[in-house]
Amino acid sequence: MTISRRVLLKGAAALGLGALALPGAMATDFSKAIIIYYSRSGNTESIARVIAEATGAKMLRIDVKEPYAEAYSDMTDIARDEVRRKARRELKTEIPDLSGYEVVYLGSPYWWGSLSVPMSTFLMDHNLAGKTVYPFITSGSSSPSGALSRIRELCPAATMGEHFYVPGSDARDAGADIRAWLRKIGAVK
Ligand SMILES: Cc1cc2nc3c(=O)[nH]c(=O)nc-3n(C[C@H](O)[C@H](O)[C@H](O)COP(=O)(O)O)c2cc1C
Repeated sequence: MTISRRVLLKGAAALGLGALALPGAMATDFSKAIIIYYSRSGNTESIARVIAEATGAKMLRIDVKEPYAEAYSDMTDIARDEVRRKARRELKTEIPDLSGYEVVYLGSPYWWGSLSVPMSTFLMDHNLAGKTVYPFITSGSSSPSGALSRIRELCPAATMGEHFYVPGSDARDAGADIRAWLRKIGAVK
């Protein structure tokens, strides 16, 4: 007979054992964390650097094989079409074995109501099942919700942790807010 996790949790609560009595509910191990991010113009990367400094986690930058057009309006037109079609853009970055990581800080700019295409492409190939994902998103001014729902869609079997958001123009001055978020989620003291 298989007992569901929900039933076990209810039983544990009834016995007054609390969540920590169950192996599946053990605290997140932040010592097994990696920062995976895409950043075209450096805003999201500046957050990744603060997370790395504060936590000691390794950074993995996603790069594309074929660079986007230099001209901003050409680039954004191409990206809009890719986002609408949920297209891929192949990656140059070699992705290491991620099986030893329990936590992924996942960084991306917000593109056209969604996640950047390079980060979507990464998640199409690596759905981060069983890991806890802490998204960090920058945008011009839009709310990051469309990017967060795309992450949930592509990582259905990951646990979503609390996200961090800042407008891209404020990203380089966000150190204190980033460290406060890291303390809140339990990544640092
Ligand atoms: C292709 C593209 C689409 C974008 N779409 C939006 C958008 O819909 N709403 C918004 O507020 N900002 C949008 N932005 C602005 C970026 O989200 C913002 O500048 C972000 O901080 C860039 O991060 P990065 O420097 O890490 O690449 C877009 C930028 C690009 C390049």
